[in-house]
Amino acid sequence: MGAEQVEACLALDQASLGGLWTREQWQQELSQSDRLCVGLLLEQRLIAVACGWLVVDELQIGAVAVAPDQRRRGHGRQVLMALLQEARRRGAMRATLEVSSANTAATALYGRCGFSTEGIRRGYYRNGDDALIQWVQLQDMETVRIAAHS
Ligand SMILES: CC(C)(COP(=O)(O)OP(=O)(O)OC[C@H]1O[C@@H](n2cnc3c(N)ncnc32)[C@H](O)[C@@H]1OP(=O)(O)O)[C@@H](O)C(=O)NCCC(=O)NCCS
Repeated sequence: MGAEQVEACLALDQASLGGLWTREQWQQELSQSDRLCVGLLLEQRLIAVACGWLVVDELQIGAVAVAPDQRRRGHGRQVLMALLQEARRRGAMRATLEVSSANTAATALYGRCGFSTEGIRRGYYRNGDDALIQWVQLQDMETVRIAAHS
């Protein structure tokens, strides 16, 4: 995706992530060369997005979101896998993200895409929920791809 999707990203962010990033932050995500953003369009409407930041050989995933009326149709998995594949193509060896232990939808998605928990920040969120630090190795994307599609 490019800068032309900034308004669509803001709207999806509001609807799905409660306003994670400002317009300026989305502009950066969509324009800087070390940022990767994958989107899924349905009849010109942005319905899913996955973004990450390439830091040397790691991808730090910052946002994954699917429009509320489009969930449980495989779109989250599709954009996340496309992001991981693009990161691999750009030289990333592993990818990481942080997710609330209470976010069952996201933890299910990440598990299906090969992520596993390698650290826990207890009481990290304002409501007291724990943050799970998850990683996936990208060297063997075939293994990740099979896990995600089985
Ligand atoms: C998390 C999110 C991106 C998942 O998107 P999605 O398109 O509904 O996910 P998918 O349809 O690709 O599902 C992927 C897997 O997760 C499972 N899953 C998805 N939502 C689930 C839920 N609410 N409960 C249990 N499992 C769930 C699916 O069943 C699927 O596994 P399966 O193939 O074994 O059935 C979406 O719920 C969302 O946007 N949530 C709000 C934003 C958010 O929390 N983002 C993550 C922040 S870290």
